[in-house]
Amino acid sequence: MESIKLDITKATQFLNPGTIEAYAPQVAAAQVALEKGTCAGNDFLGWLHLPSSITKAFLTEIENVADTLRKKCEVIVVAGIGGSYLGARAVIEGLNNSFAWLIKDKKNPTILFAGNNIGEDYLFELTTYLKDKKFGVINISKSGTTTETALAFRLLKKQCEDQFGKEFSKDVIVAITDKKKGAARITATQEGYKSFVIPDNVGGRFSVLTPVGLLPIAVAGFDIKALVEGAKDMEKETGTDVPFANNIAARYAAVRQGLYAQAGKKIEIVANFQPKLHYFAEWWKQLYGESEGKDHKGIFPTACDFTTDLHSMGQWIQEGERSIFETIISVEQPNSTLLFPHDNENLDGLNFLEGKRVDEVNKMAELGTRLAHVDGGVPNIRVSVPTLNEYYLGQLIYFFEKACGISGLIMDINPFNQPGVEAYKKNMFALLNKPGYEAESKAIQERLTSDK
Ligand code: PA5
Repeated sequence: MESIKLDITKATQFLNPGTIEAYAPQVAAAQVALEKGTCAGNDFLGWLHLPSSITKAFLTEIENVADTLRKKCEVIVVAGIGGSYLGARAVIEGLNNSFAWLIKDKKNPTILFAGNNIGEDYLFELTTYLKDKKFGVINISKSGTTTETALAFRLLKKQCEDQFGKEFSKDVIVAITDKKKGAARITATQEGYKSFVIPDNVGGRFSVLTPVGLLPIAVAGFDIKALVEGAKDMEKETGTDVPFANNIAARYAAVRQGLYAQAGKKIEIVANFQPKLHYFAEWWKQLYGESEGKDHKGIFPTACDFTTDLHSMGQWIQEGERSIFETIISVEQPNSTLLFPHDNENLDGLNFLEGKRVDEVNKMAELGTRLAHVDGGVPNIRVSVPTLNEYYLGQLIYFFEKACGISGLIMDINPFNQPGVEAYKKNMFALLNKPGYEAESKAIQERLTSDK
């Protein structure tokens, strides 16, 4: 099997000679700290050897539950937010037909997502759409108490029971949550739902290779064994025994740090030339944003879909403040072939492309963009993926996870917590007068009155 590849040559040219190699000792120390569990956040290292610890029997169990949902339902709603949602969506949308929900007679259920916002119109339109559909729900929440997810699940559970009765609902609602605590666990036990456990030592944004990602991905009809196999191979390829010169996770972590600390590049744009990777970049944004953005440090992670965003963000990237670098995820081979046809009139002047694949134009757009952006002062990292399938997405997931762990430790922060996420929740609960938040409610009301 081939592997994903990393090209940092168009980034290192922005750094002093020897910068990357100079990071080798720090990277090695970070890797050892991860392995030995001596780093900050060491109670959340379950992701590190997760791929190699997943058994075939466990994957078969997940596939069996997925099969039941697939047989009984035409639509599955995945309720979850952040790490309890983005990984599944990244893989499903990365592999699905771009028009999956419009295709009739499909063999896989339509996968929809909820619990990742509090849009009343969104939830109204979703519940309206589900009215004449055989649907099931995968309720995903590690804490089991996240407001967005709990709100959506309450609506969906009621609708499922109203439409099909409690007995059928029991077969088509699955919970993925903590093994003991939280409302999602209590409800699952009381109602007798099939459930899976999110391991204590795997944080949300590192959980795509637990049932959090694996069950929705299997329900969507994709091969979770190949996904895990890809991740497992990448676990080996990025191990502590792999020399720095060949370890792509170590090198990606090092070049990012060099660009940040030495070249003042504070923003990383992950760009793709495949619209299917839009949600992969969303997953990546959470992984790096929540892991690094603390103690007033961190590279701001953002994403663009090219060539789409070259017509909106392209100007800024080419000529705006030089605080950015780009990481392009490039897919070598599309899964389909489409050739440009001949046109007698040639009014668009495109007959010179006759007989060429659409992807050939896309690749020249990519190369042209890289060169232009580098000329404009934007360091460029390229991660190339042989093709979009489960195996290579598994590799890509583990590659970014491993590099993220190393990066955070080099920055001297705890990459595995997210204390900042609580601030908005505290205010929201205070504003909604949630029981238990009386003091906060009083304080926030006083603040709002004095702000007027
Ligand atoms: O990475 C994280 O920990 C967060 O993004 C969580 O996944 C997110 O807040 C959802 O939390 P929970 O799974 O507890 O509902």
